[in-house]
Amino acid sequence: MTDDILTRLRALQAGDLPVHGGRTLAYVYDSGLPEIDRVGREAVAAYAGTNGLDPTAFPSLLAMENDLVGFACDLLDAPDTAVGTVTSGGTESCLLAVQTARDARPDIERPTIVVADTVHAAFHKAAHYFGVEAVVVPTGPDHRADAIAMLAAVDERTVLVVGSAPSYAHGVVDPITALAAGAAARGVRCHVDACIGGWVLPYAARLGRDVPPWTFAVEGVTSISVDTHKYAYAPKGTSLLLHRTPALRRPAFFAFADWPGYTMLNSTMQSTKSGGPLAGAWVVVESLGDEGYLELARTTFEAVDRIVAGVGAIGPLRVLDPPDSTLVTLATDGTCDVFTLTDEMLTRGWFVQPQMSYAGTPPTLHLSVSAATGAHVDELLGALAAAVDAAVAAGPEAVDADVVAFIEALDPAALSDTDFDGLLAASGLVGADATGGLALPERMAGVNALLDVASPRMREALLVAFLDRLARPVRR
Ligand SMILES: Cc1ncc(COP(=O)(O)O)c(C=O)c1O
Repeated sequence: MTDDILTRLRALQAGDLPVHGGRTLAYVYDSGLPEIDRVGREAVAAYAGTNGLDPTAFPSLLAMENDLVGFACDLLDAPDTAVGTVTSGGTESCLLAVQTARDARPDIERPTIVVADTVHAAFHKAAHYFGVEAVVVPTGPDHRADAIAMLAAVDERTVLVVGSAPSYAHGVVDPITALAAGAAARGVRCHVDACIGGWVLPYAARLGRDVPPWTFAVEGVTSISVDTHKYAYAPKGTSLLLHRTPALRRPAFFAFADWPGYTMLNSTMQSTKSGGPLAGAWVVVESLGDEGYLELARTTFEAVDRIVAGVGAIGPLRVLDPPDSTLVTLATDGTCDVFTLTDEMLTRGWFVQPQMSYAGTPPTLHLSVSAATGAHVDELLGALAAAVDAAVAAGPEAVDADVVAFIEALDPAALSDTDFDGLLAASGLVGADATGGLALPERMAGVNALLDVASPRMREALLVAFLDRLARPVRR
């Protein structure tokens, strides 16, 4: 009987994007080493039932956490005073960095964080959750944070300045030296969000690539987030948040003894948490080690360079910014659109991620390149060239003028289910399935093009309505 259910599980999974094979260029990071995946999976399974709530009950979890943080300290030029915590992912690390900075300054009544407009959405989520105002500063034409403008935005309410190494959308490293020095001079913490670059940029530097300074070697950097479930190639569910000193980290801890149950003592937002992801990360990091990561970085950066060079030969495509790390962002010349390209790539077995137009930057394609893609670069470039031909032949996706008018007339703050249904009907893009749920179209270009004409606030409202509709229970 359980075998039948596992067969059903595998059938369900068959509809998902592949996590191995190097052809899924967002969401997953693939070392291309089956043995590494195997030991990671086994460790997750072996620790699935353990509970990280109490490190004295499961001392092996504490030992693995301290090992992982130690490895990261070496990688990130941390001083001997540095400490760190394993969290559930990049967003939790960013949330905790903001919460810690806020709670370190109880004297500030209406705290703010100063961020670039390219900062990861996790910081806006943190601002939303923790009642902190995000002061957003536009980036310059190179999509890097404008350090002068950001520091000018720092005032007596600021609890944190954030830079990215690199930013997700454009793959470029912010001027951390200037940001951190300016923040320190004003007595403000400076967090470097290296969730996606932190485990690979140090190896890029060791390979002789030009990497702007961003680690704890930079004076004034007070905390860094780095995700093991990205370029450490660990199973999903871990990230690290490092602080320069224990005193800087202290407000992250939460203890509560004023109730009749166990005294709650947490270093993260979760309380009960599986030890599986931590064990998976520990096994993968111990197995690959420094030399393993250096080799994986070498493979990955060779792939990045070949992709950048190859894209130059595909007429309508261009690389938006020369990548500082492993993220490649592509734009078109307008003869085709990235949303059609995304669909065309998917039919050829490649997942690339569309990014909407924003602040004068056109819609783009995001490629997170990982080591496993290295063996398939020619195939990727061939697929891109063929997808571009097909997309040019189809012409850019147009949104009906009536639909644009419909969207413009809607108020995102008051979008009702009726409005949402009206838009679905007017666009003719998303139908209903037999049970009344949403039936997604095979091709998403029309939906993405429609979202692209909407304002960011309207996109959010539409997507929330969409998710609400998708997430409905299956009753028996
Ligand atoms: C720069 C950066 N920060 C934060 C995050 C959030 O990480 P997660 O998706 O693990 O929560 C990401 C995810 O890609 C990222 O690229």
